[in-house]
Amino acid sequence: MSVRRLAEDTVQPASFAFSKENAAWAKATINKYPKGREQSAIIPLLMRAQEQDGWVTRAAIESIADMLGMAYIRALEVATFYTQFQLKPVGSRAHVQVCGTTPCMLRGAEDLIKLCKKKIAAEPFTLNESGTLSWEEVECQGACVNAPMVMIFKDAYEDLTPERLEEIIDGFDAGKGAEIQPGPQVDRIYSAPEGGLTTLQLVETPEKPKAPARASKAKDEAVSVPPSNAAKPKTATDVTNPALKTPATARKAAAKNAKIEGETVDKSKPAKKPR
Ligand code: FES
Repeated sequence: MSVRRLAEDTVQPASFAFSKENAAWAKATINKYPKGREQSAIIPLLMRAQEQDGWVTRAAIESIADMLGMAYIRALEVATFYTQFQLKPVGSRAHVQVCGTTPCMLRGAEDLIKLCKKKIAAEPFTLNESGTLSWEEVECQGACVNAPMVMIFKDAYEDLTPERLEEIIDGFDAGKGAEIQPGPQVDRIYSAPEGGLTTLQLVETPEKPKAPARASKAKDEAVSVPPSNAAKPKTATDVTNPALKTPATARKAAAKNAKIEGETVDKSKPAKKPR
């Protein structure tokens, strides 16, 4: 993680002012917040100042603090906390922020940093010869699943190899950054598996096997297997004495069986002694 300090006084401009268009936008943005909460607009205003001048100057931080009625130290705390704000002049065509946190480091971030050192400058926050490129190492950018990755301005470039990052840097240096598709640089959508889905795929439901043909209606009645969509019991009697709901032939068979069982039970009891 790099130390977040303001640029040397020698490069700091004496003053800051939003352009006419950006000043109107800033006023409208401040008005989005309730009265007394205007300071909540600090982040969008700092970002707009950076987009206007290429980096966030001391004059811009203090000017925005005045607009929002904030102490300078409060505005400085915000500007120096977030690595999205550049506190020094950076490359005019690309400032490459390489994530160096554990998941990206395990997936090859060191090789990306080596490439930046070779291709841009040996030290972070140092402009290349033509002033178009610079780089730095940052902490996790929230795209760990597609590690390793870099941020260039507001876009993330993920699933990188040194070769692919070199192509991207060359593209920005040639002024064609807008033509490079951000996001994963391999065959995947967002963070879905490479090459397509491996789980939760739609598969055709196998056809249900057909029930064997029924022999006869009489057999149906004797077996009396309720269809799966049979009406549920509605009364207590239905539940406790389902035989009442069966066809007559089945009821007769059930009664006969009960009689036989009764006799069997009786025979199993010890015979009563005659008095
Ligand atoms: S560790 Fe690199 S994006 Fe999270």
